[in-house]
Amino acid sequence: MQAYSEGLRLKGKRLSFVPTMGYFHEGHLNLMREAKKMADILIVSIYVNPTQFGPKEDLSKYPRDFERDSKMAEGAGVDVIFYPSDKEMYPGNYQTYVSVEEVTKDLCGLSRPGHFRGVTTVCAKLFNIVKPHIVVFGKKDFQQYITIKRMVDDLNLDLEIVGLPTVREADGLAMSSRNVYLEENEKPSALILVSSLKLAQKLYDNGERKASAIIKEVGKLIKSVPYVDIDYIKICDTKTLTNVEEITGDAVIALAVKVSKTRLIDNHVFGENLNI
Ligand code: PAJ
Repeated sequence: MQAYSEGLRLKGKRLSFVPTMGYFHEGHLNLMREAKKMADILIVSIYVNPTQFGPKEDLSKYPRDFERDSKMAEGAGVDVIFYPSDKEMYPGNYQTYVSVEEVTKDLCGLSRPGHFRGVTTVCAKLFNIVKPHIVVFGKKDFQQYITIKRMVDDLNLDLEIVGLPTVREADGLAMSSRNVYLEENEKPSALILVSSLKLAQKLYDNGERKASAIIKEVGKLIKSVPYVDIDYIKICDTKTLTNVEEITGDAVIALAVKVSKTRLIDNHVFGENLNI
């Protein structure tokens, strides 16, 4: 992969890259189609990265279907799929990790210790292997996007990170490979995430700027449906991801909610379009 990319770079080609864990949906495909427009060659990686899963998380049951993914990727204009094995990525003597400190402390960093260390490590490795000029991420995983941008700035990595908006189902549910875990009777409860983001924006539109007041209303709404267990509801600065009490600048409301056994996340930057 490295030699192939270097060859293209020497020919003056511009490379874009979309890292993924596969089991594609329209959210992934949209990143690919947009990344294709930004470069001559589009590379996608499919790798379910074990270092970003906790010991009790869904690594072994994470959905995988390479045949289906490769057909979908071809349709989205992907030129190369990088599909490494665990042995290639983490050989027996592997011992180096990249850790971004502040922006990974709160939100998903609290309930998923070690998760972002795994994400930044695998992304640093993938960036060095794929050698892209531009890498495209989804803002559905807002904290991941901010963390990767921080790493790229802090380590002077010679590439550009682009973040694209969340792609949703027609009913508003944020697309996720993990949505396949949802049982039919749990789906209405999963929709409470997007409804609560809409409520937060409505309160903001009506002039509410106190984060605690918005969080309280959002919490009440989420708790009104069955099967849900709130991990967090937070309103943070969009750059530092620190909690804000009073919304004055750019702020994001971020949610993590378990619907039965499925942990779902979603977020909304106040003032932006919710795309539904
Ligand atoms: P994965 O969950 O497969 O997501 C790959 C990319 O697709 C990420 O940038 C993610 O934010 C984006 N994405 C997922 N659902 C989306 C949606 N509904 N709308 C827009 N973008 C969406 O994120 C990972 O994999 C991994 O952590 C990875 C970065 C590959 C490192 O292992």
